[in-house]
Amino acid sequence: MSLLQKTCVIIKPDGVGKKVVGKIIDRFESEGFTLQAMRMVRPTRELMEGFYAEHKGKSFFEPFIRFVTSGPLVVMVWEGDDAIARVRKILGATNSPEAAPGTLRKSWGTDNRRNLVHGSDSPASAVREIAYFFSDQEHGPYDPNAWEKAG
Ligand code: TYD
Ligand code: MG
Repeated sequence: MSLLQKTCVIIKPDGVGKKVVGKIIDRFESEGFTLQAMRMVRPTRELMEGFYAEHKGKSFFEPFIRFVTSGPLVVMVWEGDDAIARVRKILGATNSPEAAPGTLRKSWGTDNRRNLVHGSDSPASAVREIAYFFSDQEHGPYDPNAWEKAG
């Protein structure tokens, strides 16, 4: 049984810098996901330390926060069947060179730190992360085909 879910995806500064924002969005649309919300964010250290709070204190935290605040982000909410797990699969493994062929990180990520994209890892994370960037009104509910059904 499949479950309609929303997940938070972030294109990190390397993705914007490499000009693959359109290709990343195209991939999710091609896989059948519906874009529910999207905004460009100029991240502060405070904002991203809060977002990645679970990793505070780890050895990679400081250099990673410097990277993820080094340029603009594209923050999005995507909806689809089993979106959380399916999006994570499309992203690929955290360490880009080890990601499976055809994944976004394999295609355009660099390493463990500069890995192009973020995706929520659980329903609880998705709820927290979506609320971190968007108001309830901004991310739905929204049916892009409602105008057709209305007749
Ligand atoms: P993590 O939650 O382990 O990975 P994922 O994004 O796949 O859920 O780590 C969060 C981010 O922290 C990761 O996307 C990039 C950064 N990071 C590093 O910079 N170095 C590392 O060694 C790890 C494990 C993560
Ligand atoms: Mg994670």
